[in-house]
Amino acid sequence: MIDINAVRRNTEGVQYVAHFNNAGSSLLPKPVAYAMTDYLHDEIRYGGYETMEKYQDDISLIYKHLAQMLNAQPSEIALLQSASLAWLKVFFSIPFRKGDKVLVSRADYITNYLSYLQVQERHEIEIEIIPDDSFGQTSPEALAKMIDSKVKLISITHIPSAGGLVNPVEEIGKIAKENGILYMLDACQAVGQMPLDVQKIGCDVLTATGRKYMRAPRGTGFLYLNQRLLDEKLLSPIFLDGRSASWTDEKTYTLQPNAQVFENFENHWGGLLGLGKATEYALQLGLENIWERIQMLSKNLRQQLSEIQGVNVRDRGEKLCGIVTFEMANKSPELILQALKAKNINVSLAKKQSTLLDMKNRNLESLVRASVHYFNTEEEIAELVGVIRKQ
Ligand SMILES: Cc1ncc(COP(=O)(O)O)c(C=O)c1O
Repeated sequence: MIDINAVRRNTEGVQYVAHFNNAGSSLLPKPVAYAMTDYLHDEIRYGGYETMEKYQDDISLIYKHLAQMLNAQPSEIALLQSASLAWLKVFFSIPFRKGDKVLVSRADYITNYLSYLQVQERHEIEIEIIPDDSFGQTSPEALAKMIDSKVKLISITHIPSAGGLVNPVEEIGKIAKENGILYMLDACQAVGQMPLDVQKIGCDVLTATGRKYMRAPRGTGFLYLNQRLLDEKLLSPIFLDGRSASWTDEKTYTLQPNAQVFENFENHWGGLLGLGKATEYALQLGLENIWERIQMLSKNLRQQLSEIQGVNVRDRGEKLCGIVTFEMANKSPELILQALKAKNINVSLAKKQSTLLDMKNRNLESLVRASVHYFNTEEEIAELVGVIRKQ
């Protein structure tokens, strides 16, 4: 059980706003903010490199906590500046050849799909969209039928940014494993929201951001990389620098033997210490507890919204997460957002651009996105629903 009063005391932002934009960027808990400010104060006093030296043990703990959260090894974690960068670095390291196939989920994020298109232009690969099942989820059955010797990569978004959908990532992992196909998982909206176990999922790569359900600072991201990919030389890592590789001679260099091959020398260590603290904080609360409360609150919100005349809740999926999307017959999503903002209630918009193929498929331009976290309360939900009722 989560002590809601304690977590709200630890979240200064709840005094000012009812925050339902956790799929955009969540509210930082105090210990996360203090981890950053303590580090910055030391940087001010002692210098950037010297402070980094001083915090080596805490920096090691970032890897340890993230590895614990995902059931991986610390050496399989890389720290980056965003989920997109983490994803891009791995994706562009895959040695694609003409005719290779990439099987993708329809609700993939803009970064990912733009990259498929770029690689298609450069290497003449084929992009195939895995059909949805009757719940709107990426269908493992359909995927199984699409496998042939040309499939190089299965690339899936766990929780798309525009709705409550949770894709069946473990079933997909089984198919990838049975067929020995590389499996990349964009878990940007899933980390910090639900328990994740890369061994159970069976993904080779998992990428995520800090600022959303992890409640870590902006400008932080990370990835999990199965060590096997490096040992078997299945990737050709790009954008090397003095952290990811060693310069050994005029014609030689060596790569870092672990996931750090995808890191940069320069990093926002104060922010990353915040990410480490946010991970520790989530682990202490328990990802199972967090997930249970998010499901309970978002179910209530969906239920109450769907009872209001003129409101259409648009989430699809068998199992729904904390992202609640809806529209109204007589008011644009933008005006609804403004009406909520006037009452200090933060929501965001799910826009067509971010998940173009899915939105197009569902004939949608934009939706109101109210993304619930465990620190939200029934009272805040009642406030939000109250404003919507008056529209
Ligand atoms: C599913 C998904 N993937 C990737 C991203 C990109 O994350 P970042 O902005 O940290 O690069 C987002 C951001 O909204 C997302 O929702």
